[in-house]
Amino acid sequence: MDIRGGSGSSGRGPPGPSPQHQSNASYVESFDFPFCEEVSKYEKLAKIGQGTFGEVFKAKDKKNKNKIVALKKVLMDNEKEGFPITALREIRILQLLNNENIVNLIEICRSKASSFNKHKSTFYLVFDFAEHDLAGLLSNFNVSFNLGEIKKVIQQLLNGLFYIHSNKIIHRDMKAANVLITKKGVLKLADFGLARAISINNKGQPNRYTNRVVTLWYRPPELLLGERNYGSAVDLWGAGCVMAEMWTRSPIMQGNTEQHQLTLIAQLCGAITPDVWPGVDKLELYNKMELPKASKRRVKERLKPYVKDAYACDLIDRLLILDPSKRINADEALNHDFFWTDPMPCSLEGMLSNHVQSMFEYLAPRRSGAHGGGGGGQQGGAQAQAQAQQRSKQGHNDGYKDMVY
Ligand SMILES: Nc1ncnc2c1ncn2[C@@H]1O[C@H](COP(=O)(O)OP(=O)(O)OP(=O)(O)O)[C@@H](O)[C@H]1O
Ligand SMILES: [Mg+2]
Repeated sequence: MDIRGGSGSSGRGPPGPSPQHQSNASYVESFDFPFCEEVSKYEKLAKIGQGTFGEVFKAKDKKNKNKIVALKKVLMDNEKEGFPITALREIRILQLLNNENIVNLIEICRSKASSFNKHKSTFYLVFDFAEHDLAGLLSNFNVSFNLGEIKKVIQQLLNGLFYIHSNKIIHRDMKAANVLITKKGVLKLADFGLARAISINNKGQPNRYTNRVVTLWYRPPELLLGERNYGSAVDLWGAGCVMAEMWTRSPIMQGNTEQHQLTLIAQLCGAITPDVWPGVDKLELYNKMELPKASKRRVKERLKPYVKDAYACDLIDRLLILDPSKRINADEALNHDFFWTDPMPCSLEGMLSNHVQSMFEYLAPRRSGAHGGGGGGQQGGAQAQAQAQQRSKQGHNDGYKDMVY
């Protein structure tokens, strides 16, 4: 897709190189973008999301009323240099991926430049619509998943991760709000706004990716300790947090700051030491953070009251392994006995048919303080703290106080 527009001489491009004969504004207005239709072909129905990078709307195709889509607006406000690189990266990755458990990008649309928008087009990513996101479903206590249904959710989640990791893509923003579920019960991993390709061998040099990724509550210990040469294991930590949340119904480690998040991790997963994680002491922030030295690993013990199934506890335990090189990968996780013992994974369609209303994090009153992801993908501690305070003011943690340290 070329979002810069046409060459100018064809019928579709701007009508010849004659801006001196036109006002600047009308030149821009007559500019045509091949392969990039106008967003006015869709009718917006409701706002369903407000992310760090823009708003998301439910919309229907005016020509084909049965076609419902999600429009994700590309935030251009701070862009002096044209189309934002983060959105370009998201589009390029989504165009590469094609799997039942990955959200499908249909096309990119634009609004027409006019005097109303200061002659600037707005761009939208157009996706197949999913009726719910997992954060919305979990925040509604009328929605109850049985064990077979939970297995189906986690199996599809791991299947999506297995697919992207096989394609050398890491998601870097795993959380319940980025997991969509259709009314037929098909899970779609969404929000590739922070995703990137991983280079396997950089001439023997370690990679230097940014570690300011992943919403704080789902951020693995290696990122919190400053690792920049990380890999797909970061997504499996997030998958472990999401899996536990299927029972606890609320994020299991809600830190206010990076330091607090590490403390919560050590309290649940045990002391972070070179004994359990050889080489951890070489990480940049290891000596700069305060790490509890004597805490015992208590993943199974703490989760047992919620997660009664022993196989489930065991899989969560393996997903939440501190040392990323020992953490279970998506392929091994899909082979875990959890998915191959009774009750077997079963369709969610019947259960979801009892709920005709869409459920999204954005629309859920309980999670309303957590927009942008309670801890935010790239935000600092202060903002996260403010959000956490707002959440606790709202009495957000109902039924779940045990897990909040
Ligand atoms: N295809 C879709 N169908 C239904 N809802 C969607 C779809 N895509 C996104 N949403 C909803 O919009 C929300 C925000 O979308 P997304 O996560 O892609 O945007 P974002 O700006 O990157 O968000 P954030 O910064 O909060 O992670 C999602 O959490 C989900 O509730
Ligand atoms: Mg998101």
